[in-house]
Amino acid sequence: MPRLSQRALALQESAIRKLDQRVAQQTGVRFFRVNIGQPDVPTPPPMLDAILSFQPEVIGYGPASGLPVTRKAAARYHAQWCPELRAEHVAVTTGGSEALLFAFTAICDPGDEILVLEPYYTNYNGFATVAGAQIRAVRTHLAQDFAIPSNEVLDAAVTERTRAIVFSNPANPTGAVYGRAEVERLATWAVQRGLFLIADEVYRRIWFHTPPASALELDEVCEHVVVIDSMSKTWSACGLRLGFLISRNTELMEKVERLGQARLGPQPLAQEVALAALDLPEAYYTQVRQTYQRRVEALTGTLSGVPGVTVPQPAGAFYSMIELPIDDSERFARWLVEDFRTAQGESVIVAPGPGFYADPSQGRHEVRLAAVLGAPLLERAGEVLAEALQVYPGRSSG
Ligand SMILES: Cc1ncc(COP(=O)(O)O)c(C=O)c1O
Repeated sequence: MPRLSQRALALQESAIRKLDQRVAQQTGVRFFRVNIGQPDVPTPPPMLDAILSFQPEVIGYGPASGLPVTRKAAARYHAQWCPELRAEHVAVTTGGSEALLFAFTAICDPGDEILVLEPYYTNYNGFATVAGAQIRAVRTHLAQDFAIPSNEVLDAAVTERTRAIVFSNPANPTGAVYGRAEVERLATWAVQRGLFLIADEVYRRIWFHTPPASALELDEVCEHVVVIDSMSKTWSACGLRLGFLISRNTELMEKVERLGQARLGPQPLAQEVALAALDLPEAYYTQVRQTYQRRVEALTGTLSGVPGVTVPQPAGAFYSMIELPIDDSERFARWLVEDFRTAQGESVIVAPGPGFYADPSQGRHEVRLAAVLGAPLLERAGEVLAEALQVYPGRSSG
């Protein structure tokens, strides 16, 4: 048999997608899908109009780092956090995912390490594996509102192979929001250790009380900072596959351009749509925040009174990692899909906790829920989950 690469063999199946096949085998069930971060919020009409008015004679490749007009528009939009930002500091990518993959690849040699605040977005594992890098997790805790660990704790995770630290802000899956003081401390720490700070800010506009600090604001350390943004969440356009890698480190941006050249250009249609998105008035973002605040309250409100269930209140993004009185969240999630039904034939699809930890023996009592449905549906999803817990055979007393 021909041999596959070690990297391919090491690739994890996406923890979030793992249940899809089992779900496809079920018939006649009304599933509340709160496992995947794909909102059902309509994509703003000006973006849909941009699709209709895209009438090129030829759909060409376009430049590797994106169309100049899109890079300029993205720089103008992000200038509210960094007035010095120029088009050459922005590379347009196929989603935030490709931006992360490019960042990891440009920064790491095979065997290098990337620190990540844990629990973390599960696909960082895949990007690291493809880039040949290792993820090293630094744990954050619900009891401390998932605060960024102290410099001493961060130091204990650093080795001579460490090249960067990545974190999401607002955070998936914890819903934590990090303000200026915390982000600045992390950046200063990273700079002192010669590391890159990769700030994944795809949820930057989704916060409920105080806004997150963007790493773009950190002028003095900008050579160390890489920011990831995306059309997927704030603009409800997951399928557009458009994101941005932003950095004022010109050497890094040159290499990102080369990575982009290897796959030719990002989609021109998506870039036209992004122009419409980046031109939306400020009121749009207020509405986005209100929508998700309502949804998150509906989701967490229904569950917070349920005995044995711990429900963190997210300060941003649209997820909650809840703790349940169960033996094993992978088993629980499968049981929900295959065995549990309410009298009305309903069940819930959840994302099991272990996928959000580097060590899969962690998170066994947790599931991540995503507030991607309207508030009444989320309330019902919470009720269905509470009903399921009462009859789950692997319920633990604690
Ligand atoms: C924290 C985080 N970063 C990046 C992504 C990737 O987003 P996309 O590739 O759709 O832009 C996601 C998607 O869920 C995410 O939650």
